[in-house]
Amino acid sequence: MQRKPLFVIGLFMLAALVLAGCPAPAAPAPTGEAAAPAEPGAVTVQAMLASNPREFDNAAVAYCAEQTGINIEVINGPESATDRLALYLQFFGAQSGDIDIIQMDVIWPGILAEHLVDLNPYLEQEGVDIGMYFDRIVQNNTVDGALTGLPWFTDAGILYYRSDLLEKYGFDGPPETWAELDEMATAIQEGERAEGNPDFWGFVWQGNSYEGLTCDALEWQVSWGGGEIVEPDGTISINNPQAAAAFDMAASWVGRISPPGVVSYQEEDARGVWQAGNAAFMRNWPYAYALGNAEDSVIRDAFGVVPLPKGEGPDARNADTLGGWQMAVSRYSSNVDAAAQVAICMAGMEGQKIRATQGSMLPTIGALYEDEDVLAANPFFSQMYDVFAGGAVARPSTVTGELYNEVSTIYFTEVNRTLTGQQTGQQAVENIEAQLQDLLR
Ligand code: GLC
Repeated sequence: MQRKPLFVIGLFMLAALVLAGCPAPAAPAPTGEAAAPAEPGAVTVQAMLASNPREFDNAAVAYCAEQTGINIEVINGPESATDRLALYLQFFGAQSGDIDIIQMDVIWPGILAEHLVDLNPYLEQEGVDIGMYFDRIVQNNTVDGALTGLPWFTDAGILYYRSDLLEKYGFDGPPETWAELDEMATAIQEGERAEGNPDFWGFVWQGNSYEGLTCDALEWQVSWGGGEIVEPDGTISINNPQAAAAFDMAASWVGRISPPGVVSYQEEDARGVWQAGNAAFMRNWPYAYALGNAEDSVIRDAFGVVPLPKGEGPDARNADTLGGWQMAVSRYSSNVDAAAQVAICMAGMEGQKIRATQGSMLPTIGALYEDEDVLAANPFFSQMYDVFAGGAVARPSTVTGELYNEVSTIYFTEVNRTLTGQQTGQQAVENIEAQLQDLLR
């Protein structure tokens, strides 16, 4: 098991709190930022949310503070999901009451269940119908009958393409296969550089050694018919030629159509290049849609989104990894009732609508995909509804449960070593298989 030394995690903890403008964990004090002013005597709950809160984050928090009359103090968490999990485990390990609400990744219920409150009774108390949420995510979040988190927003990896540049270079539409993407990216990159933009790249994505790479690499391998690492029945399927070929394909992009630095890119690094107008294609989550179309964006109205391309072979298909986040309440909170009320509001119809219309965060409530305002802001929601409502590929977190983080760490570490040229795709799948056999035995 690969764990960061405690002092590193401790530093993170401190850094997260300092960044958020909060004192050290022992003596939390309200910042009041983004929340409605507290009534005298009002309850305050602390929620660890986005690393870099945007207007829509603040708007949803302010709405729920007003609705519930509870003061919501937001603490910014780490950007990387991998670092965020380490920090949560640190808080929970200390049974710290400093954080009442966390945002939980869709892959963590099995890891965090023991530290979280079952939200079922609170939904009943508030008269909320659990049936309005996507059932797949409710099932995902249910561990031994307990609802560990409320589906807050869902996510799916998608391909962003520059429609203006495809047209300029004579391509009819976005690529359907990775080979087509490679060809288009090469042509557009050459053309744009020849016209005087040396910073232009064909394709940006997430290659850093962290959870995000697990998402990208799973898409490559499933798109080649290379299985899902560990199948739902527990079979370790990673060692197969299709998965190996998929990793070799991605390694061949590095330094050619993708920047050499892509091997340490996370979501925001890729978006930085894309948003500056310096990439023809980007793999990212839907959040980048609203930002790309912001009023001051240089790529406003010049891009579209589609499912990710297919690989090669008889089982080739489009594959978009399922992501997404839940509102969860810490068992160590001294304000569980208030925290549950806030979580229910944040994940409720209006809380999600604010985030969907202003931030293109995908709702987990089917009805919001028929809401006029939501669709007007995000025409692609209806175009890709099937992917968002259930077609995305899940990482093997249900089958590997509490061991998922170790599984993913083995996987992204070995894939990253392939991207950096330290081993071939075949060596990677063999190394992953051997380590998984050891871990899951
Ligand atoms: C997004 C997804 C999340 C995933 C993470 C990886 O936030 O919603 O599920 O683990 O990206 O970087």
